[in-house]
Amino acid sequence: MKTVKEISPVKNPRTDLEEVISIQNLKKSFGDNHVLNGFNMKLYKGENLVIMGKSGSGKSVMIKCLVGLMQADSGTITVMGKNITELDREALDELRTDIGFLFQGSALYDSMTVRENLEFPLRRHKNKFDKNIDTEALVMEALENVGLAHTVDLMPSELSGGMKRRVALARTLIMKPKIILYDEPTSGLDPITSKEIIELMRSIQNKYQTSSLIITHDVDCARVISERMILLVDGIDYAEGTFNELSKVTDPKVRAFFKQ
Ligand SMILES: Nc1ncnc2c1ncn2[C@@H]1O[C@H](COP(=O)(O)OP(=O)(O)O)[C@@H](O)[C@H]1O
Ligand SMILES: [Mg+2]
Repeated sequence: MKTVKEISPVKNPRTDLEEVISIQNLKKSFGDNHVLNGFNMKLYKGENLVIMGKSGSGKSVMIKCLVGLMQADSGTITVMGKNITELDREALDELRTDIGFLFQGSALYDSMTVRENLEFPLRRHKNKFDKNIDTEALVMEALENVGLAHTVDLMPSELSGGMKRRVALARTLIMKPKIILYDEPTSGLDPITSKEIIELMRSIQNKYQTSSLIITHDVDCARVISERMILLVDGIDYAEGTFNELSKVTDPKVRAFFKQ
């Protein structure tokens, strides 16, 4: 197997930048299905990092290990200086309030209104906020950020797919996360709606200076949003670079991503 160093056009250690996430040698198998075989990545403060991998390559497994929803077989995961495998439930829960996670699909609660969906994380993590917080103001601010203030009293079933995705993003934003993890933010959306979501992700990044990890197999999404990319192939970080750099690499496994 070729190493990243052999393929990657640049190996940029960026030692001057603050790491907010570091994953080292992550391994995860399901029986004989060896999904992650020593995956590495670092997310630096304020950047947009895209991880691209084809369907079934282990992107969601990696992100679930990262937030502690799934236990890795081995490897080290550090989030804002804390080794997540060493945290107890309470400490992990607290750390998670700094991490916004936009799940694949929108995962809104169908039986709750938009307002109730947005209030849910506030209630669940009330320790993070002042007792006297103005919940209504936070809900409206988050909805305004995604251009959907008028939907506050609607049910998810009354929203289009793109609107649901934006409400889910608002629900993530309401916690004022330092890191946002997006799992396939544009999947299942038409090209125009995808563009709107990508624009929204960029404006949120600018407004709140969050660090973002975006998982996708959508080349257009990667091209528009990434400052740096890592390609997940064969369970490892197969190649790393900017979109332009990677699109010029001749290695067939890298080329496969850019062929349209
Ligand atoms: N809970 C699980 N139990 C068994 N196998 C799983 C589980 N979750 C994921 N897998 C397997 O791991 C592989 C990677 O899945 P996933 O991370 O969801 O891929 P993707 O890159 O499309 O997000 C797939 O082969 C999938 O079947
Ligand atoms: Mg997935």
